[in-house]
Amino acid sequence: MSSASPKGGLEDVVAATSSICYLDGDRGVLAYCGYDIHDLARSATFEEVCFLLWHNRLPSRRELGDLQSELAAARPLSEPVLRLMRSLPPGDGMDALRTLTSALAHWDGGSVDQSPAARYRTAVRVTAQIGSIVATWGRLAAGGGPIAPDPVLGHAANFLYMLTGQRPDATAVRAFDVALTLHADHELNASTFAARVAAATLTDLLSTVVAAIGTLKGPLHGGANADVMRLLLEIGETASADRIESVVRAKLARKEKIPGFGHRVYRTEDPRAAHLRQMSRDLGARSGQTAWFEMSQRIEALVKAEKKLNPNVDFYSASTYHALGIPIDLYTPIFAVSRVSGWTAHVLEQYANNRLIRPRADYTGPEHPQRFVPLDQR
Ligand SMILES: CC(C)(COP(=O)(O)OP(=O)(O)OC[C@H]1O[C@@H](n2cnc3c(N)ncnc32)[C@H](O)[C@@H]1OP(=O)(O)O)[C@@H](O)C(=O)NCCC(=O)NCCS
Repeated sequence: MSSASPKGGLEDVVAATSSICYLDGDRGVLAYCGYDIHDLARSATFEEVCFLLWHNRLPSRRELGDLQSELAAARPLSEPVLRLMRSLPPGDGMDALRTLTSALAHWDGGSVDQSPAARYRTAVRVTAQIGSIVATWGRLAAGGGPIAPDPVLGHAANFLYMLTGQRPDATAVRAFDVALTLHADHELNASTFAARVAAATLTDLLSTVVAAIGTLKGPLHGGANADVMRLLLEIGETASADRIESVVRAKLARKEKIPGFGHRVYRTEDPRAAHLRQMSRDLGARSGQTAWFEMSQRIEALVKAEKKLNPNVDFYSASTYHALGIPIDLYTPIFAVSRVSGWTAHVLEQYANNRLIRPRADYTGPEHPQRFVPLDQR
């Protein structure tokens, strides 16, 4: 039996074959089904990316139109789901998303039909529903009433509309759409791996998404984007350069991790970070709030100089979402709004060529056999 990777965490272990996502951590290359992330960020919509991930090719105009219609038809939340959402106490958006996504199974009948066609329909449906759940949760948390989706809007525009009740402008829609594209897939990241492990037991697709949501929530994974904004707020909008530096240095001295920096795979800059940095700069300037971008830049320079660490996808997402007026509690759920496309693509791929994922552990416990001592003699 081969031993575990020396530092643990399955580092550098190849655990699956996949035709969905290409990642070269040394050169900073990310591509979905062969399409470079920079081209997709510049030219594709999130719906095109969903089709690409699910079908391994770009859609024709007609195919894209069909998918847009299917997503639009699947967006309205059912009354029972809305009732359940209203009955939850205010709290963490990822807790709510996990509960409500799990609850969809009771009304979707998704676990009965396990044919590939039914699983694909569930993938489309859960992608549409997660957008509506997160937007409506945010809306209720802000004291508003639920907004029905507008079927003429694309996924990004509809999300912002359901969240705010306002028609978003083209700049906001484009920025959010690009953010969704950038987060859509990332090879065997922790939540996608969790989803594939679940799928490999042949459980239903919705269960795999619930496993992924619980995994994404962690601060070492998707939870980092909200932690970045908390750090920026802790430092304070009007903080001097000295204060920024002293807060970050103090954290590093305490061996605390700075959220939004470092990556298991990239040895150079995360290619997604460049787009988010630019969006953070542009949207900050547009909203007249340049402080968060400027502070982020100072933190980036300091962490690079001190720890030789680059920002990852989460670092500039924080100030980007802030400039779009999105509340912090939604940052990680929004990651799920996008990543559900990648999770489901990987899960469909796993189902299509499945073998149970069941690795081994190097045993390091007490020697065998131990003499069993009855309870009253211990
Ligand atoms: C992403 C992450 C989990 C990858 O972790 P990993 O591959 O297991 O790397 P490690 O945690 O072993 O870190 C290696 C070294 O870099 C340091 N390091 C890694 N990320 C760091 C960060 N964000 N801030 C400060 N130091 C960091 C570690 O402390 C460790 O230092 P040491 O060797 O002196 O102990 C890690 O970089 C991290 O926790 N980042 C912050 C959370 C985050 O942004 N997550 C989103 C990822 S997209």
